[in-house]
Amino acid sequence: MSSPTFTGIIAFKGGVGKTVLSASLGIGLSYMLKRRVLLVDLDPQANLSEVFLTETTLSAVIKKAFETDRVFSFDLIIRPAENPIIYEIPGIPGLYLLPSHHKFMREAAYGINVPMDRAVSFRGILGRLTKELELDHVIIDFPPQMYQYVITIAAASADYIVTPVAKGAFSIPSVGYLIETYYDVAKVIRREPSVFLGAILTRYDEGNSKLIKLSRERVKETVSKSFKNVNLSPPPVDPVFDTVLYYNPLLTKIRGQLIGFTPYIVKHILGKYTSDVSRRLQDRLKANIASLVREFEERLNWLAALEKSRES
Ligand SMILES: Nc1ncnc2c1ncn2[C@@H]1O[C@H](COP(=O)(O)OP(=O)(O)OP(=O)(O)O)[C@@H](O)[C@H]1O
Ligand SMILES: [Mg+2]
Repeated sequence: MSSPTFTGIIAFKGGVGKTVLSASLGIGLSYMLKRRVLLVDLDPQANLSEVFLTETTLSAVIKKAFETDRVFSFDLIIRPAENPIIYEIPGIPGLYLLPSHHKFMREAAYGINVPMDRAVSFRGILGRLTKELELDHVIIDFPPQMYQYVITIAAASADYIVTPVAKGAFSIPSVGYLIETYYDVAKVIRREPSVFLGAILTRYDEGNSKLIKLSRERVKETVSKSFKNVNLSPPPVDPVFDTVLYYNPLLTKIRGQLIGFTPYIVKHILGKYTSDVSRRLQDRLKANIASLVREFEERLNWLAALEKSRES
């Protein structure tokens, strides 16, 4: 990749697989494509941090943060802090995490007022980190709901947004609300590019091609309608990724490992744990993630090339 990209993983619907998608993109881009990636956990529930920080490593991270005057993700938004914790994921060179902490649930419960200048300075801090760490990608995992906060920060900090869609009643209509509100705010902030990179179907069964096809069509209709509603042309990419992040039992246990240093999911990707878990699940997961990150970069490259040809 030529310049670093900032991608927000967003959905208004909760539990659709944002965190699993963020983790998969992070692992796939770094481990399989050898990119340098920063994952940013912006959820006060800190689920992405739980994926990568076991209880053993979390206490070490907190101790080090205290000693070196470093802060968690949310501190950068709610107060004028500048120096985030950057945690190197063990086992995967080039993969970093800027963790969140559930202590921010207090702020979240009382309502977070995000001044625009803090949202913009958050992007500035991420920009500085891309230089320091020589990053190719920044992937930001947003919380569900907290709509106003999510949309403002996403519009100010991400160039691209990706939204996971799972089976379930509100999941598809929520894509429409997301696009309309995101572009409304992005227009005001006027930072280019603000691109909907696509929806990704998640947690669908690999064999259920009929449901996958139907959902894909319904998402396409929803996206097309919502771009019309905000008077914009949709980006010149298929609104739904070809890759589906399929249901995989390994992904149901991705969070909350208590002890040890290497995260559960990283161990599977590295091919450990083979005595307990069928090798087949690991192979399927690796192939699925490889396809996901290939398509993710293809889309980014295609849009960047298009942008360049428009400029010249
Ligand atoms: N492809 C998948 N295969 C199996 N389980 C999955 C998959 N994707 C997500 N899950 C499981 O579904 C649950 C919700 O996923 P996840 O936490 O990623 O959703 P989320 O959108 O980030 O949720 P929240 O809105 O709370 O942030 C988790 O228990 C996760 O392990
Ligand atoms: Mg989540």
